[in-house]
Amino acid sequence: MYRTHNCGELRIGDVGKEVILSGWVQTTRDLGGMTFIDLRDRYGITQLVFDMDSDAELCTRARKLGREWVIKAIGKVRERASKNPNRPTGDIEVEVHALEVLNPSKVPPFTIEEDSDGGEDLRMKYRYLDLRRPPLQRNLIFRAQLALETRRYLYDQGFLEIETPFLIKSTPEGARDFVVPSRLNPGQFYALPQSPQTFKQILMVAGYDKYFQIVRCFRDEDLRADRQPEFTQIDCEMSFVTREEVLQTFEGLTRHLFESTLGVSLPEFPRMSYDEAMRRFGSDKPDLRFGMEFVELTELVKGQGFSVFEQAELVVGICASGQAPYYSNKDLKKLTEWVQRPQIGAKGLVYVKVNEDGSFKSSVSKFFGSDQLQRWAEAFGAQKGDLLLILAGEAEKTRKQLSELRLEMGRRMGLMRSDVFKPLWVVDFPLLEWDEEAQRFFAMHHPFTAPRQSDIPHMLDGDFETMKRLRADAYDLVINGAEIGGGSIRIHDRVLQEKNFKLLGFTPEEAERQFGFLMGAFEYGAPPHGGIAFGFDRLCAVMQGQTSIRDFIAFPKNNMGRDVMIDAPSSISEEQLEELHLALREIVKKD
Ligand code: AMO
Repeated sequence: MYRTHNCGELRIGDVGKEVILSGWVQTTRDLGGMTFIDLRDRYGITQLVFDMDSDAELCTRARKLGREWVIKAIGKVRERASKNPNRPTGDIEVEVHALEVLNPSKVPPFTIEEDSDGGEDLRMKYRYLDLRRPPLQRNLIFRAQLALETRRYLYDQGFLEIETPFLIKSTPEGARDFVVPSRLNPGQFYALPQSPQTFKQILMVAGYDKYFQIVRCFRDEDLRADRQPEFTQIDCEMSFVTREEVLQTFEGLTRHLFESTLGVSLPEFPRMSYDEAMRRFGSDKPDLRFGMEFVELTELVKGQGFSVFEQAELVVGICASGQAPYYSNKDLKKLTEWVQRPQIGAKGLVYVKVNEDGSFKSSVSKFFGSDQLQRWAEAFGAQKGDLLLILAGEAEKTRKQLSELRLEMGRRMGLMRSDVFKPLWVVDFPLLEWDEEAQRFFAMHHPFTAPRQSDIPHMLDGDFETMKRLRADAYDLVINGAEIGGGSIRIHDRVLQEKNFKLLGFTPEEAERQFGFLMGAFEYGAPPHGGIAFGFDRLCAVMQGQTSIRDFIAFPKNNMGRDVMIDAPSSISEEQLEELHLALREIVKKD
């Protein structure tokens, strides 16, 4: 027998019991007459004690144990003389009388503790050691709980968990596909799904009504902290539902997950149209943990000869409450450089400080007198000590830049608390996005999204300008500025779907070749349907107050899309290439 208890469960009530524990040696402390060992497993840490007086040979063996050795210890639970209130097992220790080394360990390349001293690359290479650390264990345990509670809620709501294939045909959802060559079909490729979108819609045509899946998705896109090439979705679809019913169901899921795993009761989920979110926050995923809403000054500032404002399509700013005293000229210069970085791309930054005596200090006082600055301050509802930060330029770009600045100020001012959760639904997205460079429309969500009911007639016979104004029956769930989920009511009618493909630049032949199966299915009694997918990794991270999803995934990829532990991707042998009809020889032969 390896253990009677785990390393996290013994308490004062167990004193006197004979126990067997197995685990990893976290630390060994040798205090002359006594040797203490912290024994760790995923449940916790228990202190083992070896007494020189009672068994010198055993104590000497214990002293020689290294970090991360795997041992089995048999002993008696006793009350500790000096207790450790920071540890659930801190009232007791185990006085060991038999010790077995189950497996020695090399000295690990970094410390396996709450905070590690290992760099990112090293920790990724030895992921199995990093995964032994408590923060990662907590993350993965949390993730498992969240998956369980997701299933519990969705089963209770009558959803069926149905698997869809991984070897499929390319589905355009905005990213590149990962492809897999087919051995049996020379020169042809499967694609790994970017999401199960078309399959879940087909399941609705097949009558399965309420589907869900906790499913891996694959997207060959550039990586960021909140993006991985393979990630997991809670993917759902429902038939005979309105947008309202989808939102209610998934607001319910979100509430259930927060309550059951964190004991957090979420506030109301406000609804905000895309246009409103852009106007008030410059973003379709506003962080509502703080205000600092946009104030437009375009009309107020014209006619004073300040060319930057005169030429601007939009002049817009935010008011950073109470920040004026903290920003010296040097700080403001640095902040200006911050917005001018290529990642943000603003040309400059105009500031107004509202001083304690009610006077103003501004970077544009040459052009604007205090009467005018007073009017700006009123527009912002600014108080003494506030700092107004203003950007100007082309409307869409300027909003995005100010949104970044708003987030940066929120961060600096400590307004992004990780224990506060502010969800919202963003609705009424544009259906199509015009790409000036490519001279074509792109689907803002994906090509299967339906326009709002009232926009259907316009979509069928409207002109170019009308198409730009079409609104989609699409929605995103945003929490603390992160896009957690997105979905829509779908097109379920062949004619409308064909029209959408045409608007997206597909020829009828291309549309048929790529999506004939779906449009064909629509001709056999497709019910009205809609759904949503939550990014499961992102949900885990946001619920734990973190922005990176990497440590909520057991085996993630690095920034170059590599798994450095197994060293993938890697080259394959000539034979494999030949078998897959990918060898140069094979390709030349075919040509
Ligand atoms: P969408 O593309 O919006 O919708 O994806 C849904 C959610 O998945 C998460 N997500 C990601 N998470 C980690 N890494 C990535 N690379 C990544 N890409 C997306 C986000 C996002 O909100 N089929 C549709 C859903 C539907 O219409 O029902 C879809 O996939 O949190």
